[in-house]
Amino acid sequence: GPEPLKAVVAAAEERRGFVDEMRAVAMKLHTKEQAKEGEKEVKGPEEMSPAKWEPSVEGYLKFLVDSKLVYDTLERIVDEAPVAYCRVDRHLRIKAISALVICLSFLITNHLVGIVDAEFRNTGLERSESLATDLEWFKEQGHLIPKPSAAGLTYATFLEELAKKDPQAFICHFYNVYFAHSAGGRMIGKKVAEKILNKKELEFYKWDGNLRQLLQNVRDKLNLVAENWTREEKNHCLEETQKSFKYSGQILRLILS
Ligand code: HEM
Repeated sequence: GPEPLKAVVAAAEERRGFVDEMRAVAMKLHTKEQAKEGEKEVKGPEEMSPAKWEPSVEGYLKFLVDSKLVYDTLERIVDEAPVAYCRVDRHLRIKAISALVICLSFLITNHLVGIVDAEFRNTGLERSESLATDLEWFKEQGHLIPKPSAAGLTYATFLEELAKKDPQAFICHFYNVYFAHSAGGRMIGKKVAEKILNKKELEFYKWDGNLRQLLQNVRDKLNLVAENWTREEKNHCLEETQKSFKYSGQILRLILS
């Protein structure tokens, strides 16, 4: 009958995981010029194909400085996040059963309050240090490193607030910032380097280890975390994608300023 089939389909969807849902929403918010799967109309200059951009070094530096502020903020937030761990200390001689109860209540409490960010520490996707190296390089080349602009400051403040009160929305930004950079971000870096940096490859676009594997590890963790979310919480996370594009778009746009 149709019921078992339905169950199989539902199970298959479940296995694909929540990251596929986040990705599908994000891809729709691209313009056709940005990515094949895009559906949005081009409005801002940053929504045109980077092949058509006319970047400036000053603009690109503003973009790198604001990006660093955003990565500094994300990386500090996950570093400071409480860790939901439980360990049985032998010397305390806790009986197995009570240890189990303590562990379980720890886990349940942490899921209930939505503290998940610590799982995203040291993913290998961190960009803060590589950006510091790149800015140092620009300085040595005689460029003045600008102060963060309103675009970066606004996004950083917004992320700090979300981390305190809205873990689902925070995760949406976390996913989009790191995954956008690994996809469109790299393409942008290449185009800009060809046009204004004599093809100099910045550290921002280099990862230690296999990037595909690092991304997959983070996808797996995101999928696991989202398994504990209700459908409402998942939808709330997906709806945040628009804001992620808005804030990141304002920073991207600096390249063309
Ligand atoms: C993926 C381009 C801006 C989020 C991609 C892909 C391209 C692309 C070519 C790969 C599609 C594929 O897998 O075939 C661009 C360009 C942009 C831009 C040219 C700007 C000029 C953004 C922004 C965000 C974003 C502002 C969100 C903040 C993502 C995400 C993915 C993606 C989440 C999926 C990555 C994955 O599959 O792992 N983008 N994008 N992109 N982009 Fe963008």
